[in-house]
Amino acid sequence: MEAELLGPPEALKNKDVLEIGAGAAQCSRWLAAQGARPVALDISHRQLQHALRIGSAFPLVCADAGALPFADGSFDLACSAYGALPFVADPVVVLRELRRVLRPGGRFVFSVTHPIRWAFPDEPGPEGLSVSASYFDRTPYVEQDEEGRAVYVEHHRTVGDRVRDVVAAGFRLVDLVEPEWPAWNSSEWGGWSPLRGSLIPGTAIFVCERN
Ligand SMILES: C[S@@+](CC[C@H](N)C(=O)[O-])C[C@H]1O[C@@H](n2cnc3c(N)ncnc32)[C@H](O)[C@@H]1O
Repeated sequence: MEAELLGPPEALKNKDVLEIGAGAAQCSRWLAAQGARPVALDISHRQLQHALRIGSAFPLVCADAGALPFADGSFDLACSAYGALPFVADPVVVLRELRRVLRPGGRFVFSVTHPIRWAFPDEPGPEGLSVSASYFDRTPYVEQDEEGRAVYVEHHRTVGDRVRDVVAAGFRLVDLVEPEWPAWNSSEWGGWSPLRGSLIPGTAIFVCERN
């Protein structure tokens, strides 16, 4: 939000903004505080319950981002922080839906874990700095329960795949931002750490515009 990729905060006032894969709706809460009219959408009822518990004075919608329950041209802007797109086999379907519900000139800004991280173990220390898998291997990462049912699936797209997906959906790619690890952040969690963050990007943010 600090990067102002959706525009300066004062320009968000009274804008209709859709957040997909919202989880506990952190982005929507920030948008509402700027005077925007956010709608937070997630496929998980449980995630939206967290948003409700924290307190959300805006609509929460439980739906699949691949079949958005909104009329064409309903929103000025859309965003996603690591939501929905990494978890669907065909992200172009989701991107086309976003394009459909945006008004002409509208922006969709989304972040994903930077695709280069696919090639490295998800470890915060030095062991997370050696390539252990092919960047080009698109086989999804799957976790299963005892009955062999998939309970978590993440799909890998290379940077080039993501650019082509955005263009195939009819968007213009305006920017691809790779934020650097901030000097003030000394925390470690999961595969995130100052050590890795200073050497390889952790996040890729795509700024897309609807013609
Ligand atoms: C990594 S979490 C990110 C949540 C939140 N944006 C954040 O930054 O904390 C990914 C979210 O995407 C949601 N999601 C996954 N597939 C989805 C889909 N097809 N449609 C909508 N949401 C989806 C998940 O339920 C989950 O809440």
